[in-house]
Amino acid sequence: MPRKKSEGDFEAGGEPTTVDLTELEGVGPQTAGKLASMGYTTFESIAVASPAELAASIGVSETTASKIIASARKRLKIGVETAYDYYLKRKNIVKITTGVRSLDSLIGGGIETQTITEIYGPYGSGKTQLAHQLAVTTQLPIDKGGYEKGVLYIDTEHTFRPERIAQIAEAFGLDPVETLKNIWYARVFTSDHQMLITEKAEALMRPKNIGLVIIDSLISHFRGEYVGRETLAVRQQKLNLYMHKLLKLATVYNAAVLVTNQVLADPSTFYGDPTRPAGGHILGHGVTMRLYIRKGKKGVRVIRLMKSPYLPEGEVEVLITEKGIIEA
Ligand SMILES: Nc1ncnc2c1ncn2[C@@H]1O[C@H](COP(=O)(O)OP(=O)(O)O)[C@@H](O)[C@H]1O
Ligand SMILES: [Mg+2]
Repeated sequence: MPRKKSEGDFEAGGEPTTVDLTELEGVGPQTAGKLASMGYTTFESIAVASPAELAASIGVSETTASKIIASARKRLKIGVETAYDYYLKRKNIVKITTGVRSLDSLIGGGIETQTITEIYGPYGSGKTQLAHQLAVTTQLPIDKGGYEKGVLYIDTEHTFRPERIAQIAEAFGLDPVETLKNIWYARVFTSDHQMLITEKAEALMRPKNIGLVIIDSLISHFRGEYVGRETLAVRQQKLNLYMHKLLKLATVYNAAVLVTNQVLADPSTFYGDPTRPAGGHILGHGVTMRLYIRKGKKGVRVIRLMKSPYLPEGEVEVLITEKGIIEA
């Protein structure tokens, strides 16, 4: 079994583009430095911020913050496109099979490009297994429900297993070595590292023909580093920025994005609903499709569709086997 081609970092083909923030109205060198240190390194990230959150994070008045945001929006010329442009963009959406027919039906054919799909559930429920499976099925021929494209795998919990990919690839009739060579893998160690790696990943999207970006798991580092009420706002703001980065990868490169998430299981809160995903409303707004996976009876896993813009809720039962995830 060959080793994966890189560990700890992508072999990025180029640096992410940086912008000169002092081009914005109301931003001098000092403010530019503050913006950058708070993670506002692109016009997009500023354009989508709220005046209150920007004001709080760089220590200016909300009026000044509004001015900076307006200026960033002007630079980007964002806002309006015709419904026809939007229709053309959506026509390119691809649905990537999960390799499980009943699950594909539940989610309308497969996981969609230009969209962030979230799977959340307790420890050991099978989120990482599903991520491995999609890292394989994305590479299947188009007539088999695949996308014939490569995969970026961002691993925050160090649970990626190339051996498991090889097993699943064989079960789907793919060459294990070729399948592994099409997965670009990075381990991340902190939330800042995760931000940075995701930014660098952008340079790989086109050259490596990436069709799926996996973040397993999305917020474990954010949760671990920002504990307590007083840091919650900063955490949510960073998470918001991060979701925008992911959405950009999805839309600009017509890629699917799969993120895994934990459930809230904080015994110290009375109201801690153990079936609620972590991350709050920022995450909830950012994802378009939300799946919940849990252990059922006799080893089955129950996958429930919790949120979709156009599909009804429902659930399916699957099994985790040597050959990957299969129908129960
Ligand atoms: N090769 C395999 N054959 C059968 N079951 C497996 C295999 N590999 C992992 N599993 C099962 O997958 C489960 C772990 O799922 P995982 O995706 O790591 O959970 P999560 O990411 O939700 O914490 C375990 O119950 C384990 O038994
Ligand atoms: Mg996992």
